[in-house]
Amino acid sequence: MLQDQDRIFTNLYGMHDRTLDGAKKRGHWDGTKDIIGKGREWIVEEMKASGLRGRGGAGFPTGLKWSFMPKESDGRPSYLVVNADESEPGTCKDREIMRHDPHTLIEGCLIASFAMQAHACYIYIRGEYIREREALQAAIDEAYDAGLLGKNAAGSGWDFELFVAHGAGAYICGEETALLESLEGKKGMPRMKPPFPAGAGLYGCPTTVNNVESIAVVPTILRRGAEWFSGFGRDNNKGTKLFAISGHVNNPCVVEEAMSISFEELIEKHCGGIRGGWDNLKAVIPGGSSVPCVRGEKMRDAIMDFDYLRGELGSGLGTAAVIVMDKETDIIKAIWRLAKFYKHESCGQCTPCREGTGWMMRVMERLVKGEADEEEIDMLWDVTKQVEGHTICALGDAAAWPIQGLIRNFRDEIEDRIKAQKTGRMSAVAAE
Ligand code: NAI
Ligand code: SF4
Repeated sequence: MLQDQDRIFTNLYGMHDRTLDGAKKRGHWDGTKDIIGKGREWIVEEMKASGLRGRGGAGFPTGLKWSFMPKESDGRPSYLVVNADESEPGTCKDREIMRHDPHTLIEGCLIASFAMQAHACYIYIRGEYIREREALQAAIDEAYDAGLLGKNAAGSGWDFELFVAHGAGAYICGEETALLESLEGKKGMPRMKPPFPAGAGLYGCPTTVNNVESIAVVPTILRRGAEWFSGFGRDNNKGTKLFAISGHVNNPCVVEEAMSISFEELIEKHCGGIRGGWDNLKAVIPGGSSVPCVRGEKMRDAIMDFDYLRGELGSGLGTAAVIVMDKETDIIKAIWRLAKFYKHESCGQCTPCREGTGWMMRVMERLVKGEADEEEIDMLWDVTKQVEGHTICALGDAAAWPIQGLIRNFRDEIEDRIKAQKTGRMSAVAAE
């Protein structure tokens, strides 16, 4: 269990003093110059040893990603880009960092950029996050005034500029290569990978794209040591983690916990339990809308980490946006709503996604109303399989997986609704 003294984001709770003075009192910007003084290799190795896996959803090891950046400059500048385009339905953890703890992100940008020989970093923030951009910019201005950014940043000898770029509200711009396109002033459409950004990223230069939380934990990991961070969680699932818990719990919240905490403990300790009690739990989406839902009874003992949720439950930790649904939820309608979202957000450049998201949404619409034949359930499954893995970016998978989760876990409910519609026993709610 995580003790208060082991929390990195202590300002998410209580007084919300996000000023530079407040941040310094909480230990941020302490010895930044000394950390940088230990050198690039030490920083990258320490990050590898910490076991930190990317907090944006995919869980790619952060230190390993940094090690892909060129060791020697070939004349091109290197860049760090922080992905603050947090748009995955249910996900609102990076928002909390930028609102309440912006200095730990800014300090992380400096240290990570130094480690990758980047003199410039861009934080790309989602269009709807206006207050967060203002909070972040105010903190950046404070840091410049205090000599923590700019020439000889924090007295480290490293010149470093930090910019905030504001998106225009497109979900697809959270995909790292679409984000880079948008940052370059173009339409936000994903690029084919490889090349990965470390080879050719922003303006064709070596670039690392990291999530806000991944960068914001860096200073504390380096101050307290890789061993401290890797002391939390199971093998391959290390550290502390922000969980954003929404839906039918008594107290929805964003909270930092140890990785691999059990679902029951997470909910009981921080959310005051499930609305109406554990017997009232119907389904959980444990990692943001891109991962499949899981039946409530399988979740109670679940371990909240990458490997358990994927390996044992066929779902995923994703962004750790935990969406809880009780028995009043029309799960078919909930997943239809996600299908509608993905159809709307598809950039349209590859056919399986452009056409498939429309097909999936329309069949889901019929299932919500029960106005389908039972064979259409298998047909819908086939369509998801035609989309999954056949697209340029992960949005195609993200659109397919929630529907696969619905069919795998709640096929009985879909069939019952179709039967009820055929026999005239359809409830008014489902037919709405
Ligand atoms: P990915 O697995 O393709 O890549 C993850 C990261 O690792 C990327 O930065 C990529 O460049 C790097 N990488 C992967 N393989 C590599 C290799 N062989 N060499 C070098 N670098 C490599 O996943 P992707 O498409 O970046 O992210 C998908 C995830 O994003 C989903 O699982 C979802 O959970 C999450 N997501 C999060 C959102 C949010 O609001 N935070 C929004 C939408 C999706
Ligand atoms: Fe665009 Fe969808 Fe293809 Fe991604 S999968 S590139 S969002 S059409």
